[in-house]
Amino acid sequence: MSYTVETRVLSIDPYNPDPETIQVAAAALKAGGLVAFPTETVYGLGANALDAEAVRRIYRAKARPANNPLIVHIAAPEQVDQVAVDVPPVARQLIAAFWPGPLTVVLKRAPHVPANISAGRETIAVRMPAHAVALALIQASGVPIAAPSANLFTRPSATKAEHVLADLGGRVDVLLDGGPTVIGLESTVIDLTVETPIVLRPGGVTIESLGVILPVIELHRQALGEDETAPASPGMLAKHYSPEAELILFSGAAAPVTARMQQTAREHLAAGRAVGALLVDEDRAIFDGLNVPVVSLGPKTDLAQVGRNLFAALRALDSMGVDVILARSFESTGLGATITDRLTRAAEGHVVEVTG
Ligand code: TXA
Ligand code: MG
Repeated sequence: MSYTVETRVLSIDPYNPDPETIQVAAAALKAGGLVAFPTETVYGLGANALDAEAVRRIYRAKARPANNPLIVHIAAPEQVDQVAVDVPPVARQLIAAFWPGPLTVVLKRAPHVPANISAGRETIAVRMPAHAVALALIQASGVPIAAPSANLFTRPSATKAEHVLADLGGRVDVLLDGGPTVIGLESTVIDLTVETPIVLRPGGVTIESLGVILPVIELHRQALGEDETAPASPGMLAKHYSPEAELILFSGAAAPVTARMQQTAREHLAAGRAVGALLVDEDRAIFDGLNVPVVSLGPKTDLAQVGRNLFAALRALDSMGVDVILARSFESTGLGATITDRLTRAAEGHVVEVTG
């Protein structure tokens, strides 16, 4: 397959997008093209959701398997009724509380929406992003926009335009560069087509804050990393968000984990491998005296910052050419749960539980 399109990169003010620039991108969408654009979570790779051929192009550009459904982005809560049917009251409540924002609701798909958006499923995932560029683009194009994260399949999601260009340059018609994204982690995906709402992917909206509206909520076993055989949401495959390097995730009490990480670093260095570390500020010194470059995610006490920096940090370690990345897991509550979920996937299940 050849990709010969020339990617037009247009800078855009993330708060006050220039209408003419938005028009250029909207015209590309209306013509069936692909436009990468910033949202508050990560960059999206957009196409007209009502154009099955344009949607097919998304799968091709990302090298994404055709069984992994896409999220549809809308610009106003009422538009949910243009893409979904039988929207339950609980969905209205969640929408009122969390939109615009990093919550994706899975509903019953309206029959006129092309089935390949949802990889043939009868459901549809919908979200209204909280980003002026995304909203202006959806409004100007006049259609809902299908958009997965703008990275190659299995690579870390793109939180900066340069990541999009690295993965998808020559495969997208227009890239709107609105600077780094604010949340840096993808949306929370919740399935509301089942009896008990089920979180398929933890994300920017925490489970705890969903609990305010939904007293009974399930976390999909796959989302917990327990079941790799039957993904309810194929995007939850264990291999995902992966750097090129092998990532090893350590979990357990602080002191023994530090000791184990140091020991592991020494072993890999002795075997001639280049080792890097993905740490928080508080841990910066734990590899002092060893030849281990450290990328810090920010202070452990600021999980929003850690989340914002995570995917860029994975890419930064890759560009240093390390063979192995050592990282520590985070708490299992709030955004910590989302961050640990992404690290677990980046580690492709290689998690070392340190006891005692
Ligand atoms: O924050 C985000 O959600 C970003 C921005 C661009 O909006 N988008 C994003 O899309 O992360 P993507 O395609 O990388 O992840 C979509 C997730 C996948 O895990 C997919 O399996 C799930 O949503 N999903 C989409 N449609 C679904 C459906 N009908 N049923 C179940 N899961 C679905
Ligand atoms: Mg993705």
